[in-house]
Amino acid sequence: MSKEIVVSGIRSTGHLHLGNYFGAIQNYVMMQENYDCYFFVADYHALTTHPDPKELKTNVFRVLAENIASGLDPEKVALYAQSDVPEIPELYLLLNMSAYKGELEKVPTFKDKVRQHPDNVNAGLLTYPVLMAADILIHRAVKVPVGKDQEQHLEMARNFAQRFNGRYSEFFPEPQVFRFNNDTVKIMSLDGNGKMSKSENANNTIFLSDDDDLIKKKIMKAKTDAGPTEPNAVMPDYIQNLFLLMHLTSKPEIVDIYRSQYNNCNIRYGDMKKQLAEDMAAFVRPIREHAAELQKDEALLKKILKQGAEKARASASVTIDGARKLMGINYY
Ligand code: TYM
Repeated sequence: MSKEIVVSGIRSTGHLHLGNYFGAIQNYVMMQENYDCYFFVADYHALTTHPDPKELKTNVFRVLAENIASGLDPEKVALYAQSDVPEIPELYLLLNMSAYKGELEKVPTFKDKVRQHPDNVNAGLLTYPVLMAADILIHRAVKVPVGKDQEQHLEMARNFAQRFNGRYSEFFPEPQVFRFNNDTVKIMSLDGNGKMSKSENANNTIFLSDDDDLIKKKIMKAKTDAGPTEPNAVMPDYIQNLFLLMHLTSKPEIVDIYRSQYNNCNIRYGDMKKQLAEDMAAFVRPIREHAAELQKDEALLKKILKQGAEKARASASVTIDGARKLMGINYY
C-alpha cells in the first residue's frame, strides 16, 4: 500500500525554538517512518522581510542542521530548500489566478504584519498563503504537521485546492492539519505575551541553540504570580504554558507532583522553574551539540540539500504537469 503524503516547512528567519520543535519538528520525526514525507526550509517565505542576502545561506543551513539534529533522517524523508524546487513558484502562479484580494487581506497573519510594518505591505506578504498552498499541493499532500498558528493557512490551502478542483477537475486532495495526539500545540512566550517566536522577544524564547545557562536564566525569569488561592483553581495561561513545557520535557511523576501542589495551593514556582530549567537544559543539549557539529560540515549539508531537491522535484514535476494539462497549458 502506498504511504500517505506529508508536507511541512519552516521559515529560515532565525534560530529555531521550542515552539518550532514541539509544534512541528517532533511530529516530523514521528512521521518519517510511516509516511511519505517532504520537509523543507521555506526560504522564499523568509524574503517578505528583505533579509540580508549574506545571511540567507547561514540561516537555511542552520534550519537544516537543527532539523537533522532533532532526529530527521534525510535518507527517510525529502529534506530540501523551497527555492530548489522551481515547480513550487510555478504552481503558486497558477493558484494566484484563483486567489482573491479580499480573502487574502482578511487573513489575520497578514493583518498583523500590516500593523507591525505598514511601510512594507508587499505582494509577497499578501499572497503568502497562496505560496504556502503551493508548497503543500505540489506533492498532493494529505497531512500537514504544523502548530496551531498555521491552522488558518491550512484552511486556505484547502479552499484553493477545492477551487482548482471545481474549476478544472478533481486533482488536489484537501490537506489536513496533523498532530499525533490530535491536538495542535501552541507554546507561549515565557513572559505570557503571545506565542514563542523566532523574530520577537528573544529573552522569552528558548532557542535550540541556547546553552544550559541561558536556558536556565530564561526559565527562572518566566512569568509567574503569587500562586493559586483556592484548590483546583483554573490556571492562568502563562502557568499553563510552564506546565505544558514540563509535560513535554520532564518525567510524568515530576509533573504530577507540581500539579498536585498547584491544586493544593502549596506550589513554589521557584522550585518548579528550577526543575523545569534542569530538564529543559538536558533536553536541548544534545540537539544543540549535534546541530553545531553539522553546521561545521557544509559539504554534508550541501549534499543533503541536493539529494532532497531531487526527491522533491521528482514528485513536484508530476503534479505541475498534471495541473498545466488540466488548465490547458499543453500546446505540443
Ligand atoms: P514558522 O517558520 O513560523 O514555524 C514553523 C513551524 O513551527 C510552528 N510554530 C509553533 N508551534 C507551536 N508554538 C509556537 N510558539 C510556534 N511557533 C511556530 C509553526 O506552526 C510551524 O509548523 N508559514 C509557515 C512555514 C510554511 C509551511 C508551508 C508550513 C511555509 N509553507 C507549508 C507547512 C506547510 C511558517 O511561517 O512557519
